[in-house]
Amino acid sequence: MDFRTLGNSGASVTSLCLGTMTFGDESDESVSHAMLDRYVEAGGNFVDTADVYSTGVSEEIIGRWLKARPSDVTDRVVLATKGRFPMDDTPNGVGLSARHLSQAVDASLRRLGVEAIDLYQLHAFDPHTPIDETLRTLDGFIRAGKIRYYGLSNFTGWQLTKLVHRAAALNIPAPVTLQPQYNLLVRQIEWEVVPAAQDAGLGLLPWSPLGGGWLTGKYKRDQQPTGATRLGENPQRGMEAYDRRQNEQTWSVIDAVQRIAEGRGVSMAEVALSWLTNRPGVTASIIGARTVEQLQSNLASAELVLTPEETAELDAVSAPAISDYPYGELGVAQQGRKLVGGR
Ligand SMILES: NC(=O)c1ccc[n+]([C@@H]2O[C@H](COP(=O)([O-])OP(=O)(O)OC[C@H]3O[C@@H](n4cnc5c(N)ncnc54)[C@H](OP(=O)(O)O)[C@@H]3O)[C@@H](O)[C@H]2O)c1
Repeated sequence: MDFRTLGNSGASVTSLCLGTMTFGDESDESVSHAMLDRYVEAGGNFVDTADVYSTGVSEEIIGRWLKARPSDVTDRVVLATKGRFPMDDTPNGVGLSARHLSQAVDASLRRLGVEAIDLYQLHAFDPHTPIDETLRTLDGFIRAGKIRYYGLSNFTGWQLTKLVHRAAALNIPAPVTLQPQYNLLVRQIEWEVVPAAQDAGLGLLPWSPLGGGWLTGKYKRDQQPTGATRLGENPQRGMEAYDRRQNEQTWSVIDAVQRIAEGRGVSMAEVALSWLTNRPGVTASIIGARTVEQLQSNLASAELVLTPEETAELDAVSAPAISDYPYGELGVAQQGRKLVGGR
């Protein structure tokens, strides 16, 4: 696994980050600990969680693992978590306010059993809290030694640009990363969010790199999902819901991934992850798994280098439908300097 700098910070992280959203849910504590062991044995040093994953249980499982393993293993881990979403239904138990974030960061530190969080991420934008209030709160966390860096998640282009500019105006450290949904089935962020992140020097940490499992080929045309899979257990689940995601382009992308995987003698997960991890601006793909075997297959993607032809085939088949303007051909021409007679 190669190392990359964590966005515009000086820290180094592996290009595959271990996501832990399944911990305490689909994966019990012993499987979760086995995944953490396997991940660090393979050379990984970057773990992502959030307070809301299994309502705090994912952080607690990681905390118990950190406590049980020798410090020469745990000291290497760059630990990322998030705050913003509700852990209870009290009026101030949600959002990016000073009040909520102060309680949330202390609760995460307690559950993880660490003195400092390496990367504290705002889980999503909050339209009700002034950005300056959130930034001053984060600056206080850095000064108090509770967090080392902060990052954003699920922000749109204008939201992250506004935050970066306010941070500069207030002389507060800039965010270092953006964690968006990004995979071969969801590329619309390339129109506005990726350019904004690159302009601000933020590293991308894509979540759902396998589209919630779709890119492994486990879901089939005209077959309602069954069995112990994410959609087998709940076909309507989240972004990856069967009826929401299945369409002609999805099946074409899956066919192309399968063709390339068969040609190379590797799993479909390896192909989809290799494509994503090597997209412009990506620092690390956040890999998720239910079992150690799935994790093992996903870790193998670090060894797979796609050819330019394979990459071009995947780029073409997965390109999101785009109208001519402002994100399509005519808009892009107008934004450059080559358009002759353009208005
Ligand atoms: N910031 C955010 O808002 C946000 C949102 C979501 C996730 N995340 C982060 O991103 C991480 C990854 O997200 P994700 O779990 O949605 O990623 P994903 O890689 O798209 O989906 C993971 C799921 O796909 C299936 N899978 C994974 N590897 C497989 C393999 N080799 N073969 C067959 N099936 C496989 C498993 O589900 P089944 O076996 O159950 O089918 C697994 O739980 C999370 O752990 C979390 O850290 C962040």
